[in-house]
Amino acid sequence: DYRTPLTVVILGASGDLAKKKTYPALFSLYLRSLLPENTIIYGYARSHIELDDFKKRIGSYLKGSEEKKKAFLDLCHYHSGLYDDKSAYDEFDKLIRKEEAKIQSPTSKYNRLFYMAIPPSIFIEVSKGIHGSLIENNGWSRVIVEKPFGRDLESSRVLVSELGRLFKEKDLFRIDHYLGKEMVQNLMVLRFSNAVFEPLWSKSHISNITITFKEDIGTEGRGGYFDQFGIIRDVMQNHLLQVLSLVAMEPPLSLNADDITNEKVRLLRCIQPIKLDEVVLGQYIGTQDGKQEGYLDDKGVPNDSKTPTYAAAVFHVNNPRWRGTPFILKCGKALDERKTEIRIQFKRPDNFLFQDEDISRNELVMRIQPGEAVYLKLLTKKPGLDNSIEQTELDLSYRNRFENLDLPDAYERLILDSIKGDHNLFVRDDELDVAWQIFTPLLKQIESLGCIPEKYVFGSRGPKSADELSKKFGYVRSTGYNWPGSSKK
Ligand code: BG6
Repeated sequence: DYRTPLTVVILGASGDLAKKKTYPALFSLYLRSLLPENTIIYGYARSHIELDDFKKRIGSYLKGSEEKKKAFLDLCHYHSGLYDDKSAYDEFDKLIRKEEAKIQSPTSKYNRLFYMAIPPSIFIEVSKGIHGSLIENNGWSRVIVEKPFGRDLESSRVLVSELGRLFKEKDLFRIDHYLGKEMVQNLMVLRFSNAVFEPLWSKSHISNITITFKEDIGTEGRGGYFDQFGIIRDVMQNHLLQVLSLVAMEPPLSLNADDITNEKVRLLRCIQPIKLDEVVLGQYIGTQDGKQEGYLDDKGVPNDSKTPTYAAAVFHVNNPRWRGTPFILKCGKALDERKTEIRIQFKRPDNFLFQDEDISRNELVMRIQPGEAVYLKLLTKKPGLDNSIEQTELDLSYRNRFENLDLPDAYERLILDSIKGDHNLFVRDDELDVAWQIFTPLLKQIESLGCIPEKYVFGSRGPKSADELSKKFGYVRSTGYNWPGSSKK
């Protein structure tokens, strides 16, 4: 009910995530008039910061007119306190109540949305603090949690059960921000509202599917955090696996959140254990000119760290639709470009007409970022008197096709959905569990064997073995083709 006043409480308000993502997303919702009319935003963290300094800090990340920024910042409050002290939370609750009391609620209720922008090591104590002192009895209280949800199956189960003791599943919103991205949401529509794809969407026509995540920056100051997790836990176990499940799942019974998650879970349960010899691990080193530092030069990273900053792995989905079509997931930091995409490579056509030609494969590419697009690579006769074949594409580039494109940030969409109570784009407990079941044996094996990642230079395509892995699993790289959209980001 949008008439009920809302207090958004951001735990960890002085941190990076809050500053870069949470506050800007709330500001965008504010600009679009999508926050309830009487919204208060209360930041909480350990650091003592004067309110004005705090506002300056978050203000520098907000994009909009000075007037709107000021109006938004007027809704923001800040309080510093400990994370493990009940009396600090009690005191904080009093402050919130005082602010809430200034607002007359037309429904006589007050809602609270808690956003945990904190490291996982304090998830539980902060949850206890919220539960013990800050829950609003006369309205809803919802909790948004950010990954990492544990390091492996065991620790994730502990987290899930501890949080489950404090909050009901319907009040918990586990964010995987990839689910809030436009093109990821588009997957369901693309697959199930068009008649042309479904008949082709299987092992009968698809040779292999690659899901790629590339960043052109290193860990940059996040080395301390990153080194405890590595790229498989940071990106593959969550963001890429979510994308895989939406690409590969069967049509859900309805668009209802539980029906969709049921299908995702069913799909994930068909994934075979990942084999170590179908995995490539990499770690970036600095450039020769010394302009870019290597991973081990990052201050937070131990000199002998074996943590991978790149990983490629092959997934086999053992169900009637996909048995025989490998899914190749690749992710890495400090590579040659920034891009996330899904590349569906079709089989060679089943006739002999062009058998002498080295024809490239059809590919359906969904470009998640940057420059959202869907394009289908196909072959045409070169126009004119020439009879040769040319690679070209049907191209739906969002910026060309949709006028005044204004794509909300993933966090904006997700915070809005949590205010509406819509779980569709959040991770359910059993989904998280099965994701960890897939990755935990592999992670344990990598760690117990002390696998040494292959070095690759900052700004390169990544470890050489990754290309070989793709080739081994049927991916045919086409030469002489460049999607024209890649230059128009
Ligand atoms: C985060 C990871 O979840 O996703 C980061 O922890 C990564 O390491 C980020 O950089 C990527 O998100 P995006 O939206 O920039 O693709």
